[in-house]
Amino acid sequence: MKVFLLLSLLAVGAHGAIPIDRRIDCQPDSESTAESCLARGCVYDETTVGPIGTPKCYMRADEIGYTANFGPGGGEILTKNKGPSSPWGDDISSIRYRISGLGNGVLNVRIGTEERRYDPAPILNLPRETLPSDETLQVDIAGTDPFAIAVKRGDGSTLFDTSIGGLIFTDQFIQIAALLPSDKMYGWGENIHQSLKHDFTRYTSWGMFARGDAPNSTDLHTANLYGVHPFYLLLEPSGKAHGVFFLNTNAQDVTTLPAPGLVYRTTGGFLDMYFFPGPTPGQVIAQYHAFIGRPFMPSYWALGYQLCRWGYKSLDDLKSRVNAVMAAGIPLDVVYADIDYMDRRKDFTTDPEKWSGFNEYIDQLHSKGMSSILIFDPAVQADYDVFQRAKDKKVSFIEWERADQVQPEIQSQYPMANDTKIMLGLVWPDRHVAFPDFLDTTTATDEWWEDEFKRYYQQVKFDGAWIDMNEPQVFYTRNTPNDEIPSNGRYPVICPKTGPDAKWDSPPYQTHAVFYYGEDAFLGQDSLCLTGLSQRGTNRMYNTRNLYGWSESRSTSAVMEKTTGRRANVISRSTFASSGRYAGHWLGDNSATWSDLRTSISEAMEFNMFGLPYVGSDVCGFKGVSNEELCLRWHQMAAFHSFYRNHNAIAYPSQDPAVWPSVAAATKKANEFRYRYLPYLYNLHYRSSTLGDTVVRPLFFEYPLDEATHEISYQFMWGPSITVAPVYTQGATSVEAYIPAADTYFSLNDHNYGSKVTTGLNIYDAPTTSNAPTFVRAKLDISAASIIPRHQSSAITTTALRALPFSYLVVPGNGAASGTLFWDDGDSIVESWKDADYVLADLTYSSVGGNSLVVNVTRGTTTIIVPTLAELEIFDYPSAPDYSSFTLNGAKISVNTQASKYSAITKVFTVAFSQRIPLNKEGVSTIRWNNVNKS
Ligand code: GLC
Repeated sequence: MKVFLLLSLLAVGAHGAIPIDRRIDCQPDSESTAESCLARGCVYDETTVGPIGTPKCYMRADEIGYTANFGPGGGEILTKNKGPSSPWGDDISSIRYRISGLGNGVLNVRIGTEERRYDPAPILNLPRETLPSDETLQVDIAGTDPFAIAVKRGDGSTLFDTSIGGLIFTDQFIQIAALLPSDKMYGWGENIHQSLKHDFTRYTSWGMFARGDAPNSTDLHTANLYGVHPFYLLLEPSGKAHGVFFLNTNAQDVTTLPAPGLVYRTTGGFLDMYFFPGPTPGQVIAQYHAFIGRPFMPSYWALGYQLCRWGYKSLDDLKSRVNAVMAAGIPLDVVYADIDYMDRRKDFTTDPEKWSGFNEYIDQLHSKGMSSILIFDPAVQADYDVFQRAKDKKVSFIEWERADQVQPEIQSQYPMANDTKIMLGLVWPDRHVAFPDFLDTTTATDEWWEDEFKRYYQQVKFDGAWIDMNEPQVFYTRNTPNDEIPSNGRYPVICPKTGPDAKWDSPPYQTHAVFYYGEDAFLGQDSLCLTGLSQRGTNRMYNTRNLYGWSESRSTSAVMEKTTGRRANVISRSTFASSGRYAGHWLGDNSATWSDLRTSISEAMEFNMFGLPYVGSDVCGFKGVSNEELCLRWHQMAAFHSFYRNHNAIAYPSQDPAVWPSVAAATKKANEFRYRYLPYLYNLHYRSSTLGDTVVRPLFFEYPLDEATHEISYQFMWGPSITVAPVYTQGATSVEAYIPAADTYFSLNDHNYGSKVTTGLNIYDAPTTSNAPTFVRAKLDISAASIIPRHQSSAITTTALRALPFSYLVVPGNGAASGTLFWDDGDSIVESWKDADYVLADLTYSSVGGNSLVVNVTRGTTTIIVPTLAELEIFDYPSAPDYSSFTLNGAKISVNTQASKYSAITKVFTVAFSQRIPLNKEGVSTIRWNNVNKS
């Protein structure tokens, strides 16, 4: 480090020395030279060798900034200091800062002239709830010129220290930088991170601007994908965790600095930062979700296995693949139709020839207890009845600001749109489409959307909605000489990048969302122009593009409830913080590669942190030709993801599990495990919707003090009680799994079912014929471990499954265990959890003074039919049970001894009752029994 410091002094333009691990890039937009760098008022140093990505041209961050004016009348005003000016636009001379506590330790720091600037908070309408926490946070002033703050815990430890300098506030470029207490940072999205924990050995910038760009995990790609989540969780050296949320919807980016530190930059709004005190990772996330809004509750059927592809040639083609999967005995719940079902890919139409009989087929699926999800794209072609009705209803669309900006070569083709300023673009349909403005300040757009859903529902009784292309993605907008030349009047949207209208499409600082793509890139690329008006003409895409998918999700979720009268199950490609209230997410157009399988494991954990637990990848890979081994391993992993769908792009061979006998067998087995454990998964979603828990989570969430868990990216916890170590590399027949020493774990795999596994990092067999290595936890520290509600067996659909009785898996730690059970009808709309109709029970097992299992139904119902309890299975059971001693609430019950067994070797005890035990009424049921040898 000393060497670095010394050399830095030799840098051109240097005033003070800025350590090599904390340089703030002054020229991320282009190749810098000494001249161009100095012209920006920055320091140029091309000789010092530093970590990968060290900027050659960096800011005099220690001088840049604002002066705090604490004098009389100064209050919370900051004044631009004498340090260097912003390289991107004029500094605003006077800005406000305000620090406020939201209660319960949540802290809000605001910097910027918020009164006169765009504030997304009114649109987002976040609940802003707080949860009790013993931790307090405070802000110390860490400098007055430049002004700097240090966010600290009550114990004095610093979480976010802006004395690194570099605070800049201009109209279209805002920057704040901070030193961090550790490099254990998780989150920020939507990006493909090569590991769950961010890599601070180098400088890395990440774009955050919604864009229809597919994941690529082959090596480091820092592109911004479909959604935006400006949130991170950081584990401190003490093992405590906190979270930080930047409430901002403009194009933005973040750079991680080796220091460790971060530089956050955005192109609009102001700095509105929320600090969540934790102190455990789970508490941080629960606090964040209480603030942004907790996730929606998926239907039971939506947790079933889902089959999809783009490029079915006809309804018959779809039927044949569905039949093949069903014939292989693979549990399957949801059949999808992609844009193929539409007439020329127009929303709310059905291809009259190739897809005739579509509704009858969906009726048939329903009669088999199955469901269907259809795709709906947001934009509608500007020449058919759907669009005409929108116009008649005065629907708001994304528009040009002035008539003279409208592209006549496009508009003149559409009599229905010719008298409008609607910004028409190209997506899947043959002709131009108009993009509904789901931020409409009147109810017109939502009402029209609802009407169109209801009209189509009259024809086809779909069950769920898949909303795509809502970044929004628009084709042919690259506007470069190499761009595909459109034919048949398919002219692309052309955004004003120069001249008086260029302010929004060519802002001074374009973020990593442009720099990543190279020289010809611009912010409006692959989408509508940022000058476009939204919110019924009162706002711009410049501010609201990141909310397009969010607003469509909100609207579609409400519309689906009104259309079907049942719970809405919506998955959206583009998401923003708090989208989880309305929708789930699939991880987009991945490829049939091992690396995309690998990163989908950590991405699902990130989306759980972001409040979208209903998440998963396109199983077997969307693009590219999948193969037997990859597809098999992908199913084995994804069977633990809440959103579990095989999906394939057009032009690639079928990859449903029935294509290969080995994949069919492995998928059947994986699905049977999943289906059996669905009551557990459903319970996790209930907890996520009501408490802000995660469903799939990193190991460190459960073991923050165990450092070995901090870097684990591809093994995960399925709720608090189960860990899964899937295979994600080609040719592997075993996996390395980490079993924390703080607890005891038992295998759930066939070949060593119920046996105790060694703690630490060990190799486990993972033959293709076995499910992903899965271990269940006996929690030792609080002498209460897992009781996992399961069905007694699997079934071919979730509908059939729900009729099967329960079996509890009891995994005691120190002779005791506990768990919870949630159950409802699986599909009713949840308006409020207070009024919803459901059953909740506490489950407790004890082996002290005889054995007992207590089911305490704390919330009962007469309307919901809860599966009866038919079986208990107890791991680590010390000695033979006495089958004749079983009682229920004091009265003898008989055991089906043929179906019951105890092995003194594996110590697994399974007891099946001849009589089913009802569970829906409020009150306590106690099952007691003794062992043969009572000593
Ligand atoms: C987009 C979606 C993909 C879908 C395709 C056709 O690429 O991400 O899932 O299959 O459009 O609708």
